[in-house]
Amino acid sequence: MGKLWSGRFSENSSSLLDEFNASLNFDKKLYRYDILGSLAHAKMLYQQGILNEEEYRSIVDGMDQVLDEIEKGDFTFNISDEDIHMAIEKRLTDIIGDAGKKLHTARSRNDQVALDFRLYVQAHNEIIRELVLKLVNAFVFVARENTQTMLPGMTHLQHAQPINFGYHMMAYASMLKRDYERFESSFKRNNLSPIGCAALAGTPHPIDRNLTAKELGFDAPTLNCLDTVSDRDFALEMLFNIATMMMHISRLSEELILWSSSEFGFVTLSDAYSTGSSIMPQKKNPDVPELLRGKTGRTYGNLISLLTVMKGLPLAYNKDMQEDKEGTFDSVETVEISLTILTEVIKTMKVNKERMEEACKIGHLSATDLADYLVEKCGIPFREAHFITGRAVALAEQKGCDLSELSATDLKSIDNRIKDDVTDYLSIRHSMNARNSEGGTSTKRTLEQIEKIAEWITEKEKEIAKR
Ligand code: ARG
Repeated sequence: MGKLWSGRFSENSSSLLDEFNASLNFDKKLYRYDILGSLAHAKMLYQQGILNEEEYRSIVDGMDQVLDEIEKGDFTFNISDEDIHMAIEKRLTDIIGDAGKKLHTARSRNDQVALDFRLYVQAHNEIIRELVLKLVNAFVFVARENTQTMLPGMTHLQHAQPINFGYHMMAYASMLKRDYERFESSFKRNNLSPIGCAALAGTPHPIDRNLTAKELGFDAPTLNCLDTVSDRDFALEMLFNIATMMMHISRLSEELILWSSSEFGFVTLSDAYSTGSSIMPQKKNPDVPELLRGKTGRTYGNLISLLTVMKGLPLAYNKDMQEDKEGTFDSVETVEISLTILTEVIKTMKVNKERMEEACKIGHLSATDLADYLVEKCGIPFREAHFITGRAVALAEQKGCDLSELSATDLKSIDNRIKDDVTDYLSIRHSMNARNSEGGTSTKRTLEQIEKIAEWITEKEKEIAKR
């Protein structure tokens, strides 16, 4: 049997064309969504009196067999069938005969592929959100254990002000919560059914798009068929959401790489998630965060690639759009494994509290606190306080110690308005806890942030359980 569309052709297509034109090698991933879509379409055709009961039943049984063959690996994927839609329809017709030929009534591959791909994106949107939640949970777990663990907060990668490690973890929890919400909002916006749009203009057959939409778990049918068969925004949103989240993951990875170096020594990554060197026996390399950082690049590429494919296309469907799938599959698979492994890395890493606290004695982290003390306790204008603090820093440098290690006598020698209580203000822990404004690093405020995110996680977990 020739191609399903071969009626107007008198010559067979070249095998070179088959190879170039076909998407079957990669869109076979969509088989389950294609079958789901066909079953919903057939049910609607039957309910609308377009298929009789016998035809409908044989389509259901035939599809059952096709699904079974694919899942067992017994299905022969033949590249001359071009894509998964035609491969499945052809096999169905081989099995059940004429009823199979009626399935494509009131449908085109244009709305069929729009449906299959959207079902794929929506399903993976839910999977990704579950994985994000697990990662945020891991941050919360580490944060709870470390609201008193001091480390130098940095700007320009220079010691700036002391913070606690729980606070640092909660910064990532906050980013990933926003990422989750981006996926959530894309899911809601795009939960509309493309099927029934046919080639571009709708169909003269008396179909009911509400029935198929409901059957497939969509909120409603899409509004305009011309737009629907041309639209790949839903995939672009997915690619953008993934790229943005990978950017966050990459920043964390960079920190993990720095923190696990001998210079920092702030964390030790578990052996289970580290690798060795083939030549240097002493080495333990942070390959996982390095790969996460590296893989971020391809998720950006996939986004730019699809944006570029789409930018010059006249309405409606153009074959260029077949290029939408491989990059999207790649980004989805990349982010799913990345989230899974990163969660394990975070849960199993050892936090070296002493090394972090030791590092707080470098860089005069409490300099701002001394200036604040001079303003608050001594009534000195901030500019002058800034200058006096600079002198105190110079004295500490001269003595080869940290500002927090100067005695009250040392400090009083710089300005006689300074009192004995100054040393309390200069302790690193005092400095951290003094930043007690909303969203700040104090242990109290960090705990507040942890509680808020923990409540949010519980709420989302309930939503997921209801799915
Ligand atoms: N394999 C095609 C794709 O992935 C399916 C749609 C084909 N539609 C068409 N009119 N040729 O985009």
